[in-house]
Amino acid sequence: MEHQINVMISEEDVNKRICEMGAQISKDYAGKELHLICVLRGGSFFMCELAKRITVPVSLDFMSVSSYGSDTKSSGVVKIVKDLDDSIQGKDVLVVEDIIDSGRTLSYLMEMFKDRGPASLHLCTLLDKPDRRVIEVNVDYTGFEIPDKFVVGYGLDYDQKYRNLPYIGEVII
Ligand code: IMP
Ligand code: MG
Repeated sequence: MEHQINVMISEEDVNKRICEMGAQISKDYAGKELHLICVLRGGSFFMCELAKRITVPVSLDFMSVSSYGSDTKSSGVVKIVKDLDDSIQGKDVLVVEDIIDSGRTLSYLMEMFKDRGPASLHLCTLLDKPDRRVIEVNVDYTGFEIPDKFVVGYGLDYDQKYRNLPYIGEVII
């Protein structure tokens, strides 16, 4: 089934904002090496684009969790589907996420990462839906705050579809 998708944030605006975030992160981590952790699958498009705009040396790792089925509502359950390949002990870690909604996924992951002894641990998200927050999460870099709408594109899916849209679109359900 095809859905109606309205552009919420254009490709041009997303790209511009990612450039700004990359510049800010490069400045904040000047003289350091940065270890990026991508939360699959949604965070992958954003992480690639962001990483290309970071000027300090970067390494990457991937984590896969599931908190949603094919529905648009959070199950409240965070399951580790794939853990990190490398240790983060002593590293300057930046977690890269597509969207923070209830905050359940990231509050769980950030606590888990903290216990693994990184030198520093920060969080970067392309999108934030603050109105939906159930658990407080400390976000260090936010691309855009958006209203409580279900969005797709730039890595975000609806039932595994629309991740490849080059803009952020609102699904009219
Ligand atoms: P949280 O644990 O409720 O903060 O959920 C975060 C995860 O839910 C995100 O990483 C997304 O995978 C998914 N999610 C939340 N809102 C949306 C949305 O509007 N579109 C697509 N996925 C979403
Ligand atoms: Mg995600």
